[in-house]
Amino acid sequence: MKTLYLSTAEEDLKIGAAIIRTGGLVAFPTETVYGLGGNALDPEASKKIYAAKGRPSDNPLIVHISEISQIEGLVAGFPENAKKLADAIWPGPMTMVLKKKPAVPDETTGGLDTVAVRMPASPAALRLISLAKVPIAAPSANLSGHPSPTRWQHVKEDLDGRADAVIMGEPCVGGIESTVIDMTGELPQILRPGLITPERVTQVLGVPCDYDPAIMGRPDPGLIPKAPGMKYRHYAPKAEMRLFSGDKEAVERTVRETAEALRLEGKTVSVIMYDDSRDAAERLFDDLRRSDIEGVDVILAAALPEGESVAFSVMNRMLKSAGYNIQQV
Ligand code: TXA
Ligand code: MG
Repeated sequence: MKTLYLSTAEEDLKIGAAIIRTGGLVAFPTETVYGLGGNALDPEASKKIYAAKGRPSDNPLIVHISEISQIEGLVAGFPENAKKLADAIWPGPMTMVLKKKPAVPDETTGGLDTVAVRMPASPAALRLISLAKVPIAAPSANLSGHPSPTRWQHVKEDLDGRADAVIMGEPCVGGIESTVIDMTGELPQILRPGLITPERVTQVLGVPCDYDPAIMGRPDPGLIPKAPGMKYRHYAPKAEMRLFSGDKEAVERTVRETAEALRLEGKTVSVIMYDDSRDAAERLFDDLRRSDIEGVDVILAAALPEGESVAFSVMNRMLKSAGYNIQQV
């Protein structure tokens, strides 16, 4: 298929919305990463999404809405705490897992009896959903296994010829995918870490919020993540990636020395270091993709300091990218 490239102007968003309504796939910007969208209530559209990404079909999609009232058509119950979080945080980088209504096809939820719902903050995304007049199922708009796209050019690299249209919006400022929170239990639980932190959830709800223990460290065969997507190796650059953690100066020195040694061996190297965790979130996936385009052999990256929630969320991605290759210096 020939992919249509659209702007965020109203006329173009109308074209995108018509494609969604007639069962096609449209990639669009959100504040976190670009998504590959299709009609969430159409099982054939969801099947197309899996095929376009090369994604395992047991990994459920996130359903995007543009108004809180739309959630009533998707979920079997909207608990008080979920309402409070929606009011406080949406539109924003938070996805809530709730019991689904039968109207949501199994193809969209990977056969689960729950559905993940999110209201994104990007104006183009909100307008597209509202014009489509249907909720939009959208995973990140990358080929399965690749880093998520934070620019429309990344979407083009992965999905040109595989999506009906791509909306060429702004680069994403969030940079890592939304926080996924399971709201089906007694207490909220974070299944995928993101920019919405457990502290923020506790601040809104006044109850404790922890992480799914299966996402806390290296993958453990005895612990299966509740978000099926968290069990896959993601974000893998073509280059070998090595992480270094420890005192800032020691890390900088080790990275410099390692880079010199590798270059003497004739290897090309790129170095990734961030000022803070927000900056890291915004730039990480773009940096990984750029290293691949430049064809570097090895990426050397400074780990983010422990103890802060957004840093933990970014490190979750960096550790996967590096295949858990981390060295204490
Ligand atoms: O920021 C984002 O969330 C982006 C943008 C496009 O909105 N979307 C995104 O989608 O990252 P995706 O498909 O790449 O990741 C969805 C994650 C996966 O880890 C999936 O397993 C989990 O959400 N998920 C979806 N539905 C779920 C459910 N019913 N129960 C548990 N986990 C679920
Ligand atoms: Mg993804």
